Amino acid sequence: MSGYEKPSRGWGFCALSPVLLSLLMAAPLGLLGEETRQVSLKVISNGLDFSQNLLHIRAVGTNSTLHYVWSSLGPPAVLLVATNTPNSTLSVNWSLLLSSDPDGGLMVLPEESIQFSSALVFTRLFEFDSTNMSDAASRPLGKSYPPYSLANFSWNNITDSLDPATLSATFRGHPIRDPTGAFTNGSLAFRVQAFSTSGRPAQPPRLLHSADTCQLDVALVGASPRGNRSLFGLEVATLGQGPGCPSMQEQHSIDDEYAPAVFQLDQLLWGSLPSGFMQWRPVAFSQKRGSRDSAMPCQSSPLQPTLAYLLPQSPIVRAFFKTQDHSCAFNLTFGASTGPGYWDQHYLSWSVLLGVGTPPVDALSPLVLGIMAVALGAPALMLLAGGLLLLLGHKRDSEYQSIN
Ligand SMILES: *[C@@H]1O[C@H](CO)[C@@H](O)[C@H](O)[C@H]1NC(C)=O
Ligand SMILES: *[C@@H]1O[C@H](CO)[C@@H](O)[C@H](O)[C@H]1NC(C)=O
Ligand SMILES: *[C@@H]1O[C@H](CO)[C@@H](O)[C@H](O)[C@H]1NC(C)=O
Ligand SMILES: *[C@@H]1O[C@H](CO)[C@@H](O)[C@H](O)[C@H]1NC(C)=O
Ligand SMILES: *[C@@H]1O[C@H](CO)[C@@H](O)[C@H](O)[C@H]1NC(C)=O
Ligand SMILES: *[C@@H]1O[C@H](CO)[C@@H](O)[C@H](O)[C@H]1NC(C)=O
Ligand SMILES: *[C@@H]1O[C@H](CO)[C@@H](O)[C@H](O)[C@H]1NC(C)=O
Repeated sequence: MSGYEKPSRGWGFCALSPVLLSLLMAAPLGLLGEETRQVSLKVISNGLDFSQNLLHIRAVGTNSTLHYVWSSLGPPAVLLVATNTPNSTLSVNWSLLLSSDPDGGLMVLPEESIQFSSALVFTRLFEFDSTNMSDAASRPLGKSYPPYSLANFSWNNITDSLDPATLSATFRGHPIRDPTGAFTNGSLAFRVQAFSTSGRPAQPPRLLHSADTCQLDVALVGASPRGNRSLFGLEVATLGQGPGCPSMQEQHSIDDEYAPAVFQLDQLLWGSLPSGFMQWRPVAFSQKRGSRDSAMPCQSSPLQPTLAYLLPQSPIVRAFFKTQDHSCAFNLTFGASTGPGYWDQHYLSWSVLLGVGTPPVDALSPLVLGIMAVALGAPALMLLAGGLLLLLGHKRDSEYQSIN
């Protein structure tokens, strides 16, 4: 195993006002109270074949370490592992990992420090023809073209896209066999970003992150659609904890300051809190500069138990979870037959947060708080002013009476 490490320490990028705001509106963030983590991104290459590599994100706090292992061996996948020690490490045995029986080819040690572990696998990209759909929310979505299996994609050299300044890296891929040339000028990209502290990116949907999370931005760019009005979908598989599938939740808020016109936050939770979670706004964008004009709805289907062998297998998942737990899967679909779509600019992006612990909770934004303060404050001021006038009036009265 050979490594390529670009560590980064993430303290103190705090301007005064965010600090004040976070003190004023403290949102419950952080597994085991870790506000900041020392995050490192490392590419772990197979010494014999450098085209095979893993991206290991290690986020160390006082009492815990989070490991995110991203892989493009097989379909794109990530392992989430939380341990209760700052010293846990990842161990990879490439010859085992790439063998037909990869059990134990990838381990987090010491094993007894593991508090939570699960995985996500991005199995297939779907394309539907929405030409004749009158109802935007109708299911099924219209004629489905043959799906792209993401296990049959080839991916770029992850090392080239590793950016220690932003703690990010991008897996960019296209089908190995592309008889129609749809991906000649296009790619499907998985951009992964880790964070050493909490905050919110500048780009919509501006998901609130903490040091316990990673953000994944999925972008389909430049690929030729097979229909004039193609909608795309992504199939996501995960491992259930115990007999059931993880639960899906919708949260509603009156506040859309950070994601205009989106009042919902979707969550997938692996167990009772604190556990692993996936969190996203049900919105995708049809332009690089995401805005209200380019916002498309993102719908998710219910999680369903899936026979694991029907889905493309990820070697890292098989290697880490020695006994294959049953898997569950769901579909995300982006866009509707009306409104903005992939057809506008051959662009589609969607973002999701992955993490362990308590999911970040959006407090009311300063703007909404301000509006509420003004709305509630104006009558209160008037009452106060009225009360003062009455008091003054009384005083005059009493003075008058006393003179009298
Ligand atoms: C990937 O990129 C790194 C740095 O640019 C280089 O050292 C490595 O050889 C590349 N790997 C492959 C398979 O091209
Ligand atoms: C870390 O563990 C120590 C000893 O168990 C404890 O005193 C301390 O509060 C913990 N710190 C955090 C941030 O959980
Ligand atoms: C990897 O696993 C193989 C098969 O179990 C074993 O023979 C080999 O020694 C292991 N390599 C390392 C570096 O542990
Ligand atoms: C759409 O509907 C029209 C009229 O019903 C039909 O002629 C046409 O073939 C349909 N197009 C597609 C792509 O299904
Ligand atoms: C790819 O881009 C080239 C140059 O811009 C263009 O000539 C070609 O038609 C494009 N191919 C496809 C399949 O879009
Ligand atoms: C796409 O639109 C063009 C022009 O409107 C039409 O000629 C063509 O048949 C359409 N293609 C499909 C697959 O619907
Ligand atoms: C996702 O959608 C495709 C196409 O409609 C379907 O074949 C597949 O079974 C769906 N997967 C899940 C997990 O619902």
